[in-house]
Amino acid sequence: MSMLSQTYIGKYYEGNQELSVSTKSIPGQDNDSYVILGESGYGKSVAAQSIVLQKANQSYSVRSIDIHNSSAPEHLFPIFRKSFEHLSSQIDAYNTPIPTTLFEPLHYADGTMESPADLSYTLSNIIANHLRLSRSSTAVLSEALEHAISDRDNNPDIFPAVHKTLEGFGTKASRNATAHLAPLLRHNIFRHQPVNHSFGIENIGLSKFPPLFKNVIVDLLLFDEFRTASQGGQPPRYIYIDEMQNLSIDKDCYLGKILTEGRKYSLNVILASQSIREFNASERTMLCQANHKLLFHPALLEVKYYAELLASPQHRAEISDLLRNLEVGQCVFQGPIYIGEEAKPTCAPICVNVSHLEDIASASLSKSST
Ligand SMILES: Nc1ncnc2c1ncn2[C@@H]1O[C@H](COP(=O)(O)OP(=O)(O)O)[C@@H](O)[C@H]1O
Ligand SMILES: [Mg+2]
Repeated sequence: MSMLSQTYIGKYYEGNQELSVSTKSIPGQDNDSYVILGESGYGKSVAAQSIVLQKANQSYSVRSIDIHNSSAPEHLFPIFRKSFEHLSSQIDAYNTPIPTTLFEPLHYADGTMESPADLSYTLSNIIANHLRLSRSSTAVLSEALEHAISDRDNNPDIFPAVHKTLEGFGTKASRNATAHLAPLLRHNIFRHQPVNHSFGIENIGLSKFPPLFKNVIVDLLLFDEFRTASQGGQPPRYIYIDEMQNLSIDKDCYLGKILTEGRKYSLNVILASQSIREFNASERTMLCQANHKLLFHPALLEVKYYAELLASPQHRAEISDLLRNLEVGQCVFQGPIYIGEEAKPTCAPICVNVSHLEDIASASLSKSST
């Protein structure tokens, strides 16, 4: 599918002229990722929801990974509530397992298959990395995962199957590993089951999990996305994560990989974060890989980081003033953006008012009700 996706961002004022500004991308071809930054309460979620709604309404599938309950009706911008209701499906992963083919070894185009041992090795390292497991525990986990993967059709609930297998090993190392892993494996988070992503917003609720488990689950879900997409032949997809400031984006985590390599595989992200100070310099560089950046009013201590993202040293003072004066619903947009009827995009940072959102809401309602 190589279709132009035009996404309305807001209004730009030039003298007394009000001009609409939009991004235009071919999602299977261009980087169509969005990074949205700003102090709490200045309009990140509203802008993100507007972008998500438009993508879903254009028949792209959006997976929303909800770590802070941001997609609960009471946290949606009121104008958008109905549209979200129309276009979303919900899974509260705390109570309902997420259907996934994450535990299915890949079938390569040349007819060969991924070995279950390799898959379990990768998965156990993702889990071990977040939970800081010892090497011997990681090895036992990998072994247990391999059992579960090999027997996935009989025991589709993967974590409980791994838990049971670990307990069955009965060695010192396995008892150790079980002690560390039981709190996570007690949750039946993933069910091995064929999935077909239909268009619309698929909301995966993770808000009830402890913070450390959220990070593991997000990384596993992103690994799943990355692995599936890198097989090729998938329609473009968007992954939306609001309040992502506590996730890691270093190059070993899949969020980092998706930011840097997602374009090749038609995988895009829409990320919102209230802080970038906590990210190290290389993580901030990673965030900059997103083609479109929306910077809302920064917290006092963050102004300098935003200015660094946006401008060369000689323009930073000027941009800092602009940032400090932003009001609720206003952002500095940076990335290729189309102003009014212009045929070529502007790449210099411009100030955008995220407004006329009723039109986005009513467009998505009129389509989904037909
Ligand atoms: N573009 C906008 N137009 C009108 N009101 C807005 C806009 N953006 C934000 N607001 C108001 O500000 C509140 C906070 O916005 P929100 O997007 O939730 O902030 P953040 O996610 O940055 O904490 C919203 O509930 C809404 O009342
Ligand atoms: Mg928010």
